[in-house]
Amino acid sequence: MLLPEAVLNNLGVSVLIGLVTFCMLLYQYWWKFPHPCYPPGVRGVPVLGALPFFGKFAHKTILQWSREKYGKIMSVRMGPNDAVVLNDYDTIIEAFVKQHLVFSSRPPIRMIREFSGDFGLGFCPGNKKFFEVRNFTSKVLRGFGMGRIEMEIRVSDVAQDLVQVFESLNGKATNIRMTVGAMVCNVISSVVLGKTYDINDENMKEIVHCIFNTFGDKKNSKYVMILTFFYAMRHIPPFKKARKMFLSNITKQLDFGQKEIDEHKKNLDENSPGDFIDAFLIEMKKHSPTDSWFHEKQLLLSVNALFIAGTETTTSTILWAMIVLLNYPNLQYILHKELMTETGEVNPSVKHGDNLPLLQAFIQELYRCITIAPLGLQRTNTEDVEIGGHFIPKNTVILPNIYAVHNDPVIWTEPSKFDIYRHIDKDGKFIHSKKVIPFGVGARVCLGKKLAQLEVFIFLANIIKKFEIIPDPKTNEIPPIHDGLSGAGFFPYPFKVIVKSRRG
Ligand code: HEM
Ligand SMILES: *[C@@H]1O[C@H](CO)[C@@H](O)[C@H](O)[C@H]1NC(C)=O
Ligand SMILES: *[C@@H]1O[C@H](CO)[C@@H](O)[C@H](O)[C@H]1NC(C)=O
Repeated sequence: MLLPEAVLNNLGVSVLIGLVTFCMLLYQYWWKFPHPCYPPGVRGVPVLGALPFFGKFAHKTILQWSREKYGKIMSVRMGPNDAVVLNDYDTIIEAFVKQHLVFSSRPPIRMIREFSGDFGLGFCPGNKKFFEVRNFTSKVLRGFGMGRIEMEIRVSDVAQDLVQVFESLNGKATNIRMTVGAMVCNVISSVVLGKTYDINDENMKEIVHCIFNTFGDKKNSKYVMILTFFYAMRHIPPFKKARKMFLSNITKQLDFGQKEIDEHKKNLDENSPGDFIDAFLIEMKKHSPTDSWFHEKQLLLSVNALFIAGTETTTSTILWAMIVLLNYPNLQYILHKELMTETGEVNPSVKHGDNLPLLQAFIQELYRCITIAPLGLQRTNTEDVEIGGHFIPKNTVILPNIYAVHNDPVIWTEPSKFDIYRHIDKDGKFIHSKKVIPFGVGARVCLGKKLAQLEVFIFLANIIKKFEIIPDPKTNEIPPIHDGLSGAGFFPYPFKVIVKSRRG
């Protein structure tokens, strides 16, 4: 009897020691904050962290946590990563603008790296070679180094094509996502490839589909977003399939880009570059491909990044505008009237801008009220850093809660209300607000900001001037302003509208 009891005791003690060690390890690796001054927040459950508690809109849930308990700078464990979310304007400026050198990088995202290596534009670390290419690209997107065609003319030409396509719908209720997407894609195409496609071109249709399916696919969007934080999930359905779709859609786009680059190489005339690819090929000759990122792989990934970053975001902004106009027919009426009075017989252009305060206010309110990228794009700090009395160890994932800024009741009265007059002063003039930040701020601010703003302005001015936006009479359903697909961005659910020509 003595022996078994000793064994039993030993076993009991071992199990107990094992359990205590396990709990200590779990605490060490999970619930213990990385530093005594690390921002407080939600650690969630082992392995998944706070991911299971986000609900439908992560940005709203996090904002609620921040307001109720943790404060403006809070931590949210995302799967295996420590992440810090900045929930107000001042803190975002404090980090991304005042300490821009520390916050100009992005964390490595394995799913992106699988096809890009370190190269590209949107997800690269913030090293010197990257910034050389970013600065160059920014210059080209402002119209330098690619011939005489002004950016506004490129955009305006495409807007006129869009008007024609809308007219050809003959007032039939239509889901216009592909149409708008194709035209937005044509703007990028005009800038990057130096050409535009017919709306019915099969290549064009396929590419737009692939771009839409990369981040904005109805089923996969959310899974793809989670995979960017937690790539180990890729082995488990439905993440497995989401990743497969993501990568196959990317491959298709890369093949398309490579074909274009090969064509451009064959036909390059160094004395008259006509687009981004030409400009890049010429720039490549000034640099060594080993000492810089001016090489063909980077060119391919830049082309791809511009198409992906520029298409879904801008398309969704235009579609949200249609939804707002459906919800507020009176707004449609006053915007149309302003455009008729101020632009008369000619097509609206940027030079009319100052005379269109209501349209400007409408667009600013659109950017505010409907935040396309509610949590921005992941950043990381390349050094240990202190903000707002909190310590953040280097290589922490940092997310700006842009939605929180756009819905801060200290800045905006009744933030959930769509009200263009909050951006109009007592003399009827437009008030530009620096606290509307749909494109982010700082060293990694949206590279296409200027182009996107130009596009949104020209497209909407033309649409509102020339069409009436009417709900589908079959369902009479008016899509909601505050509900949509939430994943990599905030995109509208599919809907149909009538775009009715005002030409009589
Ligand atoms: C309304 C439309 C758009 C919105 C709301 C938008 C928003 C954003 C946001 C929030 C970021 C992250 C910024 C940050 O980390 O602070 C970003 C990055 C970026 N955007 Fe946009 N964007 C739009 C249109 C475009 C267009 C048209 C292009 C291309 C021509 C573009 C190209 C990029 C690129 C390349 C980046 C990555 C920049 C970097 O990592 O350095 N975007 N955008
Ligand atoms: C890129 O441009 C910024 C702003 O003009 C400048 O501060 C920075 O030094 C440039 N970086 C490189 C690597 O050229
Ligand atoms: C792209 O993804 C969608 C689903 O998101 C899928 O149906 C389609 O087949 C994919 N296309 C390609 C070319 O891989």
